[in-house]
Amino acid sequence: MTPLYSRLCGTGSYLPERVLGNDEISQRVDTSDEWIVARTGIRSRHIAAADEGVVDMATVAAQRALEAAGLAADALDLIVVATTTPDQIFPSTACLLQSRLGNRGAAAFDLQAVCTGFIYALATADRFIRSQGARHALVVGVEKMSRIVDWDDRSTCILFGDGAGAVVLSASSKPGILSTHLHADGRYADLLQVPAAADTLTMQGNAVFRMAVRTLGEIVQETLAANGLEGKDIDWLVPHQANIRIIQATAEKLGLPMERVVTTVAHHGNVSAASVPLALDDAARRQCFRPGQHLLLEAFGGGFTWGSALLRWL
Ligand code: COA
Repeated sequence: MTPLYSRLCGTGSYLPERVLGNDEISQRVDTSDEWIVARTGIRSRHIAAADEGVVDMATVAAQRALEAAGLAADALDLIVVATTTPDQIFPSTACLLQSRLGNRGAAAFDLQAVCTGFIYALATADRFIRSQGARHALVVGVEKMSRIVDWDDRSTCILFGDGAGAVVLSASSKPGILSTHLHADGRYADLLQVPAAADTLTMQGNAVFRMAVRTLGEIVQETLAANGLEGKDIDWLVPHQANIRIIQATAEKLGLPMERVVTTVAHHGNVSAASVPLALDDAARRQCFRPGQHLLLEAFGGGFTWGSALLRWL
């Protein structure tokens, strides 16, 4: 039997209209544009309106991805949404999104792996397709981080933003996704969390930074080794957009110049599960990728969780 792969057929994204710049944040907490740019690379982030939920943002990103793929919503037989900030406990964001898109009958569920959520969701959808459990899958990363940020904590409120990114995967005899790699280590839960009795996130930034650099360095090597590749074989790194210094460290370990790294963190900050698909869609729409090129996607987040995906472009 011909092996079955999943191919990425379309991408889409959405950022809310309101842009919150560093200067505006520094009017509220003791910080500055210079400090934020130097330590994180972030210049602004987008903030959803009070009445704009993750389902609203996910719907626009998903419709754009479906349009790019040339696929009608009713052709989907799987919808996986990665989010840490659902509008309601249940139904899942995926079911609410399914209804908005006008799809009936597809399997639909949410998945929670914080900033690694999109990679976890992509890996899950890939496995569904490869095992013939689905032919067309929609994978979404969406967050309203502004809802769980403590706007009086200068060490965290500068980092996060809102938005959504989506991809459509379809079964194909050609790859597609070449491999996915997922990991977690729950011993570090309290370094980055929304504590049970709290509404907002807490983070030990420095410790998170060191762990992110170390584990992302390891997972890119694991991904290369699994595919018999070297750093020079990677055409594009599409990393989690959390901090430009973490991205630079990973690129350096791969031996990749920054021109080969998709960076969108400056204008949307860390949008948790939406960061990777936001970056992917940005570069796809600028036509950065060429057919046959190798893209390495990676992310790290609360849990801790971390993961990667290697794919061949269209
Ligand atoms: N403006 C000005 N000063 C700030 C500040 C801000 N927004 N936030 C923290 N500081 C201060 C601290 O209070 C500290 O002051 P002190 O030395 O007087 O105690 C000093 O800056 C250094 O703090 P530190 O936390 O060591 O800074 P850092 O270089 O590690 O940068 C982060 C802080 C948050 C930018 C950085 O740790 C980081 O990006 N971590 C990873 C975050 C992340 O990506 N999380 C999500 C992973 S998915």
